[in-house]
Amino acid sequence: MTKKIFISVVAMMTLFGIIGTSFAFEQGSERKGKYLYRSNCRTCHKDGASATPLGPVDKTQAQWERVFDTYERLECAEQWEKFSDEDKTDMLTYLYNHAFDSPTPATCD
Ligand code: HEC
Repeated sequence: MTKKIFISVVAMMTLFGIIGTSFAFEQGSERKGKYLYRSNCRTCHKDGASATPLGPVDKTQAQWERVFDTYERLECAEQWEKFSDEDKTDMLTYLYNHAFDSPTPATCD
């Protein structure tokens, strides 16, 4: 009986370990994130506009996570104020899933 409990605890820890390392954050809606990113951030972050052109492939997954953890320090921090935490998670999901070192890197065009 105790052996069974022990085995299931180990199995659960292994499972959570696997889930925990495959996603460093809880994924949101990629589709909504793509829409939000394109209709808000890209207005400035593209060729010919006021800021550095930026798409998912321009950063690694770790770099995107850092951007979203420390966005208050960016020059455009006030542009982020209108987004809810859920919106930001959705945008990070889109950027992270198509980052330079992701399985499916993508530009924004
Ligand atoms: C009103 C224009 C504007 C909007 C909208 C805007 N930014 Fe910015 N952003 C800037 C400017 C200007 C800078 C500083 C100059 C630069 O790096 O191009 C900057 C800097 C940055 C940087 C640092 C530069 C780099 O290449 O790492 C990141 C990352 C960034 N913005 C991401 C975003 C994201 C994500 C959004 C949407 C949530 C966003 N920005 C919305 C204008 C904007």
